Amino acid sequence: MKIFVVGGAGYIGSVCAELLLNEGHEVAIFDNLSEGHRGAVDLRTHFIEGELADRGEIEAAISNHRPDAVMHFAANALVGESMQNPSKYFRNNICNGLNLLDAMVAAGIPRIVFSSTCAIFGPPDGVPIDETAPTRPINPYGESKLAFEKILRWYDEIHGVKFVCLRYFNAAGASEKFGEDHRPETHLIPAVLQAALGERPNVEIYGTDYDTPDGTCIRDYIHILDLAQAHILALGAANSGCYNLGTGGGSSVREVIESCRTITGLTINAIEKPRRPGDPPRLIASSDKIKKDLGWQPQFQSLDAIVESAWRWHQKFPRGYED
Ligand SMILES: NC(=O)c1ccc[n+]([C@@H]2O[C@H](COP(=O)([O-])OP(=O)(O)OC[C@H]3O[C@@H](n4cnc5c(N)ncnc54)[C@H](O)[C@@H]3O)[C@@H](O)[C@H]2O)c1
Repeated sequence: MKIFVVGGAGYIGSVCAELLLNEGHEVAIFDNLSEGHRGAVDLRTHFIEGELADRGEIEAAISNHRPDAVMHFAANALVGESMQNPSKYFRNNICNGLNLLDAMVAAGIPRIVFSSTCAIFGPPDGVPIDETAPTRPINPYGESKLAFEKILRWYDEIHGVKFVCLRYFNAAGASEKFGEDHRPETHLIPAVLQAALGERPNVEIYGTDYDTPDGTCIRDYIHILDLAQAHILALGAANSGCYNLGTGGGSSVREVIESCRTITGLTINAIEKPRRPGDPPRLIASSDKIKKDLGWQPQFQSLDAIVESAWRWHQKFPRGYED
């Protein structure tokens, strides 16, 4: 298939593009490099440095390329920043996404796979969180993703654009070529590995008095290659729908730090800080629906395997794509 990957120079998009290429698909990447990296663009793709806010640019790119499907990763994704600057989040994640959808409708592109997030749920009533859980986002980032999911439903009903929303929990790990390099890096595993490499002085633990076995928050880490595999399966989905994506297990902040200490064999300084507002104690996905509907099976069930792959990449590129 011909796949048009929007945001393919970013962390998750780069690995999905790599896997698509490995499986014989033809890939074009559209990215403004605001957050992504030129070095994360697989050399086998056709790269378009373009801005989704520019309706003409995205329309021209889609109509020239005429893909069979679009994967839409492009977004701003910092929860804290979204609480300071909601306009940036609603504009990029909703308005600019509409430019993409309109370009698809104009060119008759029938299918989209959308990067959604567990942030659409807000604090859950219980875990694991399945697709029937209430959606009560507590920040503009989560709200923007939920709004786009709803927009997709109407574009399907009115224009016939089939969609699959994949709500990732915590994407982590690396392929041999591409890994995680956000600026700033707010994700736990790369931050801990940066501390191991001396790229940051320590790692901060926000809250040690949660109602969890070791008092720190528990999150569901899913390997980036398992996540990429779900995108490929989504291309063949018979019906539009939304799926939660995690391993169904959880690791605490202290467990992640311990795993990084074991795998790197290095000293990692951890500093205990007060809780951050809006951090639920546990976020764990139920992924039964995607397993049943699309036959998805995660290959990486252990935290250590995820950390090992991330560590291999960080050792090769200690300063990320700057190297
Ligand atoms: N990383 C996670 O754990 C996680 C969890 C849940 C959901 N998500 C979602 O997955 C997607 C990808 O996440 P990521 O971690 O790879 O983020 P990322 O920032 O690494 O990648 C996003 C890419 O989109 C590009 N982009 C942003 N706005 C654009 C625009 N207006 N025009 C063109 N390109 C634009 C950026 O340059 C970047 O390359 C995001 O939509 C995010 O909300 C990520």
